Amino acid sequence: MERCNAILLLLYFASYSGALRLTSMSAPNIADVRDKMELDCHFDMGNEELYAVKWYKDDQEFFRYMPKGQQQMMSFPVPGVKLETHGGDCNQRRCKINLTDLTRMHSGGAYRCEISSEAPAFRLASETHNVTVAALAKDPPKIDGLAETYMEGDTFNVKCTSNYADPEPILTWKINGLDPPPDAISHISSSEPDHMGLIAQTLTLRFTMNERSLQGREIEVRCESIQPGLPESKRTSSKKVPIRTPGDQQEVKKQKWYASGFASKFGPSIQIHIAWLLLWVLVMKWI
Ligand SMILES: *[C@@H]1O[C@H](CO)[C@@H](O)[C@H](O)[C@H]1NC(C)=O
Ligand SMILES: *[C@@H]1O[C@H](CO)[C@@H](O)[C@H](O)[C@H]1NC(C)=O
Repeated sequence: MERCNAILLLLYFASYSGALRLTSMSAPNIADVRDKMELDCHFDMGNEELYAVKWYKDDQEFFRYMPKGQQQMMSFPVPGVKLETHGGDCNQRRCKINLTDLTRMHSGGAYRCEISSEAPAFRLASETHNVTVAALAKDPPKIDGLAETYMEGDTFNVKCTSNYADPEPILTWKINGLDPPPDAISHISSSEPDHMGLIAQTLTLRFTMNERSLQGREIEVRCESIQPGLPESKRTSSKKVPIRTPGDQQEVKKQKWYASGFASKFGPSIQIHIAWLLLWVLVMKWI
């Protein structure tokens, strides 16, 4: 009985190490329309012979590598799929291909690498990755038109502009972490598509500063851009602007120019006088 088990175990390992295995497939989660898409498939044939590597998009084969075939590499037309070079970089252990001219409408989908062994085993192994095609905004949105300070009655009239991207980014404003005041007027406009069909959005926000928006010492404005369906596309810019009250012009200037407690307590002239005094004492001693 024991011997029988040992033989079974041995058989199991023999067949295990001998069978083909797809060790890893790599594909981007999000492929950028401005770049090429690199697909890579690694496999271990064990003691079997490679018959074919096939690449599919949504179950449609677009590329085949058959090391012993009359034609080693073949490609088949599938919408949205264009090989960068005529063939791939394929051998007994891997098969790597590059796709180019991606489009958001047609190139996204489920990409599959499938390997198969020669007769008599004819075994198959495959792995699939979903790829979304988009052009993500590369930079945070840009905030233009902020004043240096704000006080009650001032008009906030500020523009936020996204990068060119696809799908079109959606912009939103937050003022001190909250939605803009209910009386704020916002205006959305979209750019013309660029040569790759990417679009930028601009969102202008306009309202009159009142007590509600002017709490604390500064006002924090934040603009966020996000592309629908792509949580990873979120980009945020924020800026802080000091608030001033009518009798407070000096206060703002001091805050900006003199950060140290000493300077804000005594002002610049005292500092300069003390510096002169020290210099004078030193010079006198030296003489
Ligand atoms: C795919 O593109 C990469 C990066 O440019 C390059 O190194 C590689 O040789 C290309 N492979 C094929 C099969 O064209
Ligand atoms: C890929 O997408 C399909 C359809 O949207 C879904 O059913 C499947 O679970 C996804 N596969 C992976 C590996 O995320």
